[in-house]
Amino acid sequence: MVSTFTSQGLIRTLMTFTQKLGRAAAATEARLTKLLDELAPPEQTSSRLAAAIRHAVLGGGKRFRPFLVIESAALFGICEDEALNTAAALECLHCYSLAHDDLPAMDNDTMRRGQPTVWHAYDEWTAILAGDGLLTFAFEILAQPETHADAAIRLALIGELASASGARGMVGGQALDLEAEKIDESGAATLQSIRSLQSMKTGALIRFACASGPILAGARAADCERMKSFGDVLGFAFQIADDLLDVEGTPEEVGKAVAKDADAGKATLVSLMGLEAARLQLAELEREAIALLKPFGAQGVTLAQAASFVVNRRN
Ligand code: IPE
Ligand code: IPE
Ligand code: MG
Ligand code: MG
Ligand code: MG
Repeated sequence: MVSTFTSQGLIRTLMTFTQKLGRAAAATEARLTKLLDELAPPEQTSSRLAAAIRHAVLGGGKRFRPFLVIESAALFGICEDEALNTAAALECLHCYSLAHDDLPAMDNDTMRRGQPTVWHAYDEWTAILAGDGLLTFAFEILAQPETHADAAIRLALIGELASASGARGMVGGQALDLEAEKIDESGAATLQSIRSLQSMKTGALIRFACASGPILAGARAADCERMKSFGDVLGFAFQIADDLLDVEGTPEEVGKAVAKDADAGKATLVSLMGLEAARLQLAELEREAIALLKPFGAQGVTLAQAASFVVNRRN
């Protein structure tokens, strides 16, 4: 664990949560730019594709998943620089999921991070291929020796991210999300079906973020499992907050269209239980997440703050 008595530990202790999130975002942006310049230079690909990939991944977003990678790594004694390739790879995967999520065939959105969505700025085929490029780019980054010197650890990261992203993870959850739009009242969602949909759609990548720190550190399986449980609770809370913001937020706050889920017939906790019950559920998940960090003592404080950030966020 990072000692508070090292200079890095002292600086981290003195920063506020917002400063830590902002610092992680800036470091992730810089690493993404460097990796894109090395691995996807415009002169070696279609310049249209290169520009669309950069539009999808650079210049915006909270970078919350990279922040979780960096903080879960710090908890197990891994410094920011050593966690940044993994953080950047996960952000590429996340931005691919957003570029495809916004397509007309999926959520049909025209604004993301306060900018035109990738398909709206370019066209559908470009957005599909930019997403495909980012998906594969994520694994290319993880395979690089700079991500971790030990090939067995790189392989563990690749395997974990692949299962978090695929048919049992994010992609499977997106399918359930879109299928649920077609279900009539007789087959309406239950708390359990929404929980498992969201656990795949959003939870899987957040679980990966939280488990990546102990994986990078070669920590015990029990530590990886505890961090995955933390990520699971955090991921559910993250999507409930997103669904609440769809009802209560403004486009200026969230940088994307709001009031879309109900019209589309999305199966969310808000549509099932209402706003008040969803808020109570969020408060319960915040308590659960913080309780899972107890064994880490004071070292777990930043991730506990992350749980509070998730339930109170306005963007
Ligand atoms: C949006 O994710 C998609 C969901 C899983 C709810 P974020 O809210 O993390 O979006 P960015 O990356 O900050 O734009
Ligand atoms: C998207 O969920 C989750 C992904 C896997 C991309 P949403 O469709 O609710 O995300 P937003 O509201 O468009 O960001
Ligand atoms: Mg969606
Ligand atoms: Mg969407
Ligand atoms: Mg949403």
